[in-house]
Amino acid sequence: MAGGPKILIVDDEPVVIKSAERVLKSEGYDIEGAGGGREAILKLEKGGYDLVFTDLKMPEVDGLTLIKWIKKTNPHIGIVIITGYPSQDTIRDALELGIIDYVPKPFTPSVLLDVTERAVQWSEGRKPKEDKAGEEFPPAMAAELDRVIGAFRNVPGGLIPVLQRAQEIVGYLPPVVQKRIAKGLNLSEAEVHGVVSFYSFFTMKPRGDHNIRVCLGTACYVKGIEGVLEKIEENLKVGIGETTGDRRFSIEGVRCLGACGLAPVMMIDQETYGALTPAKAIGVIKGFDPSVGGAEVTAAAAQEEG
Ligand code: FES
Repeated sequence: MAGGPKILIVDDEPVVIKSAERVLKSEGYDIEGAGGGREAILKLEKGGYDLVFTDLKMPEVDGLTLIKWIKKTNPHIGIVIITGYPSQDTIRDALELGIIDYVPKPFTPSVLLDVTERAVQWSEGRKPKEDKAGEEFPPAMAAELDRVIGAFRNVPGGLIPVLQRAQEIVGYLPPVVQKRIAKGLNLSEAEVHGVVSFYSFFTMKPRGDHNIRVCLGTACYVKGIEGVLEKIEENLKVGIGETTGDRRFSIEGVRCLGACGLAPVMMIDQETYGALTPAKAIGVIKGFDPSVGGAEVTAAAAQEEG
């Protein structure tokens, strides 16, 4: 690898290539773009790429066809999909073809960098061995995960508890983790993926150290959660479904937290916070990270409460 790992970004929208390039080049990755599957194949035939990030929906040669071609001709190249609104079927097809992960579009720099880092680790740990599952994430995590899988191997209905523990151990459920669980429990990857995408408490995206769940249910909406959410997003500079660049916080929007009497409500990790105002919410978050909101927040919260 001359410089950083060489990545080919394949997308028919030039703006996607441009923004991925901007984010990844600044981190030392060697980036090239291709406007479609056909151009990608021509570039890949010349060799030298470590990873391919591809869109799925593209005219002429689409993403799935490109993935199949890569798997057949260059199986050492890691593949990540970048896609807008993937259907479960599409993701399942891509998983079965052996993609490493996917990046939702539009993506934030932190999500893109995170997935890229993991993809690079995958591709580096891949070198001579075919399928050394467990090297894609820290060995201690892999060992703990295997222990949990072993404990539930012959337990009917064991998949959900295993996924719950896996999410606690790894923090989220990327394709490598799903694959390992499927193998360990003797299930198909599609079956595991189906369960992960069905239940909202499972996530395939990395979360921050603290997960902020903002209730968007009717009672909370009527009592002004919208303003609270706006303030949180403004201060953390990320929106619902995203994680801050320093991986401290993630924001999630949920339907009802079962505490409507306290509306508007949010939960941070396991703790519920009710009767929120925008400033009070920031004050609470500041308790987890004093750098959030600036020094004026505490005074603003006090004024608002008074
Ligand atoms: S609607 Fe928000 S807690 Fe029920």
